[in-house]
Amino acid sequence: MICSVDIKKAYYGNRQVLEDIFFDINEGGILAVVGESGAGKTTLGRLVSGLYKFYPLTYEGKIDKKEELDIVPQNITDSLDPVFKIIEQMLEICDDENKIKNVLKIVGFNKPDDILNSYPSNLSGGMKQRVLIATAILRSNFILADEFTSALDMVTKIKVVNLLKKLNEERKISLVFITHDMELLDFVGEIIILYDGKILEKGKIEEVKRDAQHPYTRFLINSTPKLGLHYTNYKFSNINIDKRYGCPFYKSCKKARNLCKESAPPLKKKGNRWLRCHF
Ligand SMILES: Nc1ncnc2c1ncn2[C@@H]1O[C@H](COP(=O)(O)OP(=O)(O)OP(=O)(O)O)[C@@H](O)[C@H]1O
Ligand code: SF4
Ligand SMILES: [Mg+2]
Repeated sequence: MICSVDIKKAYYGNRQVLEDIFFDINEGGILAVVGESGAGKTTLGRLVSGLYKFYPLTYEGKIDKKEELDIVPQNITDSLDPVFKIIEQMLEICDDENKIKNVLKIVGFNKPDDILNSYPSNLSGGMKQRVLIATAILRSNFILADEFTSALDMVTKIKVVNLLKKLNEERKISLVFITHDMELLDFVGEIIILYDGKILEKGKIEEVKRDAQHPYTRFLINSTPKLGLHYTNYKFSNINIDKRYGCPFYKSCKKARNLCKESAPPLKKKGNRWLRCHF
């Protein structure tokens, strides 16, 4: 196992932001963490990578890692220094120029010298993203990609995701994908649906996508335009979330009963799926 996480609670100052988040990742394994803005995805990445020390962020629980987790960050524009060439920035991580050229080739640059002699402003969003992935694999075999596709167009998104998939298959790189949409998640691995700092559903990606149990997971799947479909032709689904109820999904759930109105559902295991639901 490359990483085992069991966070009971996490706080910014005295404000609780995560509760009961647990997962294991094997060597070459994949975990996807999906949830809307503010769900706590980046916070989870900060905790697992150890970067939480730079924030007013504390946790109760256990995070065991065999290898350091390297983050391909959410904001690509801030991640490369505009005043230094790529070569100067990559030499800070690894002093072996041949190794650097090799990882640039792995991420699809046939002429690594051209990239190394460029400034970040000379590169497109997708190229910067690939430089950041190359930087991450120089550091570690365990990579977390935080909303890494948010600044990319669909074609580049698919290319970058396929690259990560290839790195996973061929080089056994373990991956954590953080995203707020499900469109590109056709991986084999585990998925956690996060809402308000808590797990709503957890299981195998392919099973959860095929047979989502929680109404919020179904909403996320249904509000994702299928690849190849034009956005203009797509009808997005709606969900009514009301935090005054024990289960905030009470209003949108076909299975809801009185208990759901009154009390917050616990996280329970149902077969090999975890679900935050009374039933
Ligand atoms: N540095 C910080 N100090 C205090 N609170 C923070 C800090 N960073 C995030 N938070 C709060 O923690 C909660 C989770 O934020 P987080 O950034 O982890 O969400 P996210 O799921 O990554 O959202 P997004 O999809 O917008 O990136 C939010 O309520 C946010 O306001
Ligand atoms: S707790 Fe009730 S309202 Fe919430 S998801 Fe389960 S059945 Fe639906
Ligand atoms: Mg985030």
